[in-house]
Amino acid sequence: MIVIQMEGEVVAVAGRTVVVTGGRRGLGAALVDEVLARGARKVYATARSAHGDDRPRVVAAELEVRSAESVAALAELAADAEIVFNNAGVLLPAALLADDLDAAATTFDVNVFGPLRVARAFAPVLAANGGGALVNMHSVLSWLAGSGAYGASKAAAWSVTNSLRLELAGQRTQVVGAHAGLIDTEMVSAIERPKATPAEVAARIVDGLENGAVEVLADDVSAAAKAALSGPVEDLVFAR
Ligand SMILES: NC(=O)c1ccc[n+]([C@@H]2O[C@H](COP(=O)([O-])OP(=O)(O)OC[C@H]3O[C@@H](n4cnc5c(N)ncnc54)[C@H](OP(=O)(O)O)[C@@H]3O)[C@@H](O)[C@H]2O)c1
Repeated sequence: MIVIQMEGEVVAVAGRTVVVTGGRRGLGAALVDEVLARGARKVYATARSAHGDDRPRVVAAELEVRSAESVAALAELAADAEIVFNNAGVLLPAALLADDLDAAATTFDVNVFGPLRVARAFAPVLAANGGGALVNMHSVLSWLAGSGAYGASKAAAWSVTNSLRLELAGQRTQVVGAHAGLIDTEMVSAIERPKATPAEVAARIVDGLENGAVEVLADDVSAAAKAALSGPVEDLVFAR
């Protein structure tokens, strides 16, 4: 794992209140497990539909990141949040040219404007609670061509994160962008390639957060893609 660090205070998870969007399943569920294991005081874990969680430190909440009203309701419920993981995302199997433009628009609405809605709603919450941290989930496909609107949305999300880092610096919010290659979740169940487990990626992301990272490259493939950015652009391709 490669971690690029910020100066100043770092955010430890123990004793903190955490929000994980899309925390019911996939990588989000692993992030919930990870922060609980590290002593988080409370974790709001969201899904688009009503759900339950028996663990006493987990608050199961509903969230649709495409809806500003839903995001605002979560920010009101989770007014004690100190760390927010913008994990929820979607991968629609749609090509940029051959498929409907609506699929690209939906992808951007969920993967770019969704986390931005969450960041806008929670910025004052984080400020009121001491600054805390915002962790945005990107992908190795932020840097590689070949996945249509998904990669384009993750490239945009990467840029949004980098500007949010500047815009939130004044309130001392640590902003972390996390990149990973294939993770063994429902999102990529159709792809037959080696995958990291959600638990190992979650642990690396939270390690980075607690080490004061501004960027986490959670696996070798992400580190290699980042290193290749200074090379020929036609080499920046995801080969299935
Ligand atoms: N899997 C990979 O290989 C991989 C690699 C790199 C990065 N990522 C990124 O990691 C994050 C988690 O992905 P995953 O692999 O865990 O995917 P996943 O198993 O498909 O889970 C997607 C999660 O996002 C939530 N979600 C989707 N659309 C939403 C919406 N409109 N509003 C609110 N929540 C929504 C889902 O909530 P529900 O429970 O309501 O469906 C679910 O919790 C995503 O940002 C993804 O792009 C994944």
